[in-house]
Amino acid sequence: MCGIVCYVGEKQARPILVGGLKQLEYRGYDSAGIAVLEGGSINCQRSVGKIVELEKKINALEMNGTMGIAHTRWATHGEPTEHNAHPHTDQTRKVFVVHNGIIENYSSLKKKLQKGGYRFYSETDTEVLAQLIGIAFEGDLTEAVRKTISKVEGTFGMAVIHQDVPGEIVVARRGSPLVIGLSDDGHFAASDVSAMVRYTNQVIHLQDNELATLRKDDFVISTARAEPIQRTIETVEWRAEDAELDGFPHFMLKEIYEQPETVRNAMRGRLEPGEGVPKLGGIIPVWEELRRCRHLVIVACGTSYYAGCVGRYAFEKLTDIDVEVEVASEFRYRKLNFPPNTFILALSQSGETADTLAAIREAKRKGARLLGIVNVVGSSISRETEAGIYNHAGPEIGVASTKIFTSQLTILILLALLLGRHQNLSLTEGVEAIRALQLLPEQIQKVLSQANHIEAVAEKYHACQNWLFLGRKFSCPVAMEGALKLKEVSYIHAEGYAAGEMKHGPIALITPEMPTVAIMPKDDMYEKMVSNIQEIKSRKGPVIAITTEGNKELGDIADEIIETPATLDFLNPILAVIPCQLLAYYCANLLNRDIDKPRNLAKSVTVE
Ligand code: G6P
Repeated sequence: MCGIVCYVGEKQARPILVGGLKQLEYRGYDSAGIAVLEGGSINCQRSVGKIVELEKKINALEMNGTMGIAHTRWATHGEPTEHNAHPHTDQTRKVFVVHNGIIENYSSLKKKLQKGGYRFYSETDTEVLAQLIGIAFEGDLTEAVRKTISKVEGTFGMAVIHQDVPGEIVVARRGSPLVIGLSDDGHFAASDVSAMVRYTNQVIHLQDNELATLRKDDFVISTARAEPIQRTIETVEWRAEDAELDGFPHFMLKEIYEQPETVRNAMRGRLEPGEGVPKLGGIIPVWEELRRCRHLVIVACGTSYYAGCVGRYAFEKLTDIDVEVEVASEFRYRKLNFPPNTFILALSQSGETADTLAAIREAKRKGARLLGIVNVVGSSISRETEAGIYNHAGPEIGVASTKIFTSQLTILILLALLLGRHQNLSLTEGVEAIRALQLLPEQIQKVLSQANHIEAVAEKYHACQNWLFLGRKFSCPVAMEGALKLKEVSYIHAEGYAAGEMKHGPIALITPEMPTVAIMPKDDMYEKMVSNIQEIKSRKGPVIAITTEGNKELGDIADEIIETPATLDFLNPILAVIPCQLLAYYCANLLNRDIDKPRNLAKSVTVE
């Protein structure tokens, strides 16, 4: 979703801002803009479409200046046009604002301003912010922003500059992430660290209802009530190279290939092979209550939700805990009634998904305890949960999540194993599980080595406009995730279904033009899956089977076979999802799609 980047310092701002915007491209956007203080005035340029369009425009200009703000916009209020692109300005054209989030009372504020004679040039809620800051400004920009945020409802991450306050950027946040970056030759702020990781790894995560005033040599963080705050500086572990393609044609492919490493990183330092018990330092603060927990609710969105669905089966297999999984956007509207000692586990790559955040806040209000599995260190979910586990998977840039899914599964299984070992799971079962976990990175590598075969399968079927993905038990959420991946990046219509439900509807769709991907490892569901695909075959539907290595029984019923190494049933999703990811990737590539930034999608969905 929208991205913000700003800089004030000794260097030229324009290349830093444009470079930062490019690092944020993955969040999804449809227009972009930049404002740089040049001499005594602010030069603001905006354009529709990709950042290269903005670059074309500003390359012809001088735009010299050492401070500025920039933005990528993902349209919410008003179409993606140039006049709706950020930065927005006020009546005096002295204040320039970039903003992420939604100002919920903008319409009433706008009407009031219009009655007072203020003219508006866009359909955005952000322009209201610019006007209000302009009106409130009496020489102190931070105060003007402070007064303005007291009048607005909704969410914002914003950065503001004023022509009469050279050398100063004011940023403020409520609900939309903002990170401040510190370096010897200037200060940065951005909606995520990838925009500035090239220049600094020293960051401070701004919290809700806080403002920061950034200058070349100093910065001040304060509350909405003007109390100054001291914050510890965090060092981010991401490197600039993590956000580079490294020879891969797309981030999605690079991230699929990173999975042996990211699954290893999810386990690093967390396995005790002899005891068959994982060690998870992040949950120590709640351990005594957690070990007695009998009711766990996993909340998440998108791919993270499907990881949660696999997690439920793993918890049911390894522990005595009742587990529910719910899409976060629905969960918060339920009439919640938690038994004592209920834990809510939020799964989120970004740690900023608005629905997931809203769900945990609601659950907290109702007395539940909060845990998180999050990739972005210092993100809102990581701060608002009592304890949790980081993925340590590095930045995921491709909008369609891949490496985080397998990393989330690994961590969910470690958590289930840890709790199970403190319940009824035996030492032998624990040791066996850890041994199998340790084999995963190599086994993933083996699946990846079939990429050419999977690409050939994609070549054969990529023109089919409807696909079905089927699985049972552990493989059912993999089928859903496989269908989601295909939809997201190739725009092919795909349905993920519990194989047992096939006869209750989807079977009516089967034709020779509709392939079915059957996730059917040799587990206790295998025979039932065979019956399901026989039913498809007898209706002339092509079958692509993802099954366990060495399975020779499918030659007559499956048109294509993709093998995954044998493992324990609850670990199989980590291997079986990889052919699904590759199928989606290769179909999208053959169809010439914008793989890393699919239309209409955003990496981090920070509005509800
Ligand atoms: C968006 C992304 C998905 C992601 C989902 C949840 O829809 O495009 O890839 O799975 O948000 O994001 P989270 O950061 O909470 O895991």
